[in-house]
Amino acid sequence: QGKRKKAHILFVGLDNSGKSTIINQLKPKKERIPDIVPTVGIGEENFSLGSLDLTAFDMSGQGRYRNLWEHYYSNCDAIIFVLDSTDKLRISVAKEELMQLLRHKEIQRKRNLPVLFFANKSDLRESFSAVKCAQLLELDKGEWVKGGSPMYRGDPHSGLGRPWHICASNAHTGEGLNEGIQWITEQLL
Ligand code: GTP
Repeated sequence: QGKRKKAHILFVGLDNSGKSTIINQLKPKKERIPDIVPTVGIGEENFSLGSLDLTAFDMSGQGRYRNLWEHYYSNCDAIIFVLDSTDKLRISVAKEELMQLLRHKEIQRKRNLPVLFFANKSDLRESFSAVKCAQLLELDKGEWVKGGSPMYRGDPHSGLGRPWHICASNAHTGEGLNEGIQWITEQLL
């Protein structure tokens, strides 16, 4: 009881997936802002969430900024990867970005760095379920950290080779966010 933990969390994912909206929703009510605009470069927010004292880095998902992500890898305690679960066309692009991230040497050095996935925009009718998103990203398949593409190494539970979890979310109402944050908190405490 009373145990608090400082944590740096990186929010990554393609542009328009909902990173800023999720961060805004996680903040205390009186600190929220009414209008979210696309992130230019990197946003930083500090706030308390349950037993975590969070620094949330909001990494712009726009292509021209994605190379900035890696500068934050050495100093992070957890990664939240946000997916637009309605964006069927770009799920392979998201997978490519995820693969690059997991192959990065700073990330590989952190064997236990937890990765939480939000399959966001679950309120929209055309959204894929969390399970479907996990399948499309091949999260439960094989070895991600070596080589170019995920290779199945015979252990169906090996997955990303690190703790991960996926849940569906609606960033506008906050639905699903608690489950994910609870999981991350358990990993960090
Ligand atoms: P970049 O800053 O460009 O990387 O985008 P981002 O990932 O921060 O996305 P942002 O939070 O700006 O949200 C993009 C758009 O999706 C906005 O119009 C949001 O209102 C909308 N959006 C975010 N989350 C949800 C959701 O859960 N459901 C629905 N229906 N719309 C959402």
